[in-house]
Amino acid sequence: MTAHLTFTRRSAFAPAAAATAFAALFFLMSAAGDSVAQTSPTILQGPWGEMREESPAGPVADPGDAAIRLRQQSMRAVSSQFRTIEALYLAGTPFTPLSQAAARTLHDLGQRNTGLFAVEAPRRTPFGAKAAIWQEPKEFAEHVAEFSLATGRLLQAVETSATERLQSELAAVRYQCLACHYHYAF
Ligand code: HEC
Repeated sequence: MTAHLTFTRRSAFAPAAAATAFAALFFLMSAAGDSVAQTSPTILQGPWGEMREESPAGPVADPGDAAIRLRQQSMRAVSSQFRTIEALYLAGTPFTPLSQAAARTLHDLGQRNTGLFAVEAPRRTPFGAKAAIWQEPKEFAEHVAEFSLATGRLLQAVETSATERLQSELAAVRYQCLACHYHYAF
């Protein structure tokens, strides 16, 4: 009974704490100048009745905000492809159609980084791109090129089922993520 009461009190408190933390974070991000509009939920119709879609990412009007959103979405995709290959490697099943698709997408996205950063739009929130990307384009291009080479080698290792090389190729790609972030991302 005591345990049940404790649990009830905790679960009643946690959402309030989370909501406060979220509101504080939202305030900080708004204060930092994020001009991305918020949208209200959308109601979707379909064979199983109405479904409510919460849409946290609203439309963007400013070209700089649009460029930033595209970059950030691409980076999230880069991250999830990499983590997919890594997780399958750690599970002992590294050479599946899923890891091959992830390695191909990772390499493809890496090759598009030059175009992604063509629009000069440094961060507008506490996290994002450093102005150094556009101040030292030659050095940034070297990071983009090295990342492309590393993801190409990882793709080749996945496609040829090169068990003995996979761990080192994963590490080499991860090294490139960390090095580029160290120099060019907050
Ligand atoms: C050539 C440089 C470069 C490489 C290589 C790179 N990143 Fe990034 N990454 C950036 C920059 C710059 C940003 C900030 C982009 C912005 O906010 O405009 C970023 C942002 C991110 C973000 C945050 C996205 C968001 O929602 O705000 C994640 C996650 C991320 N990178 C993961 C990775 C992973 C994982 C790898 C390697 C597999 C990687 N990145 C490789 C430069 C790079």
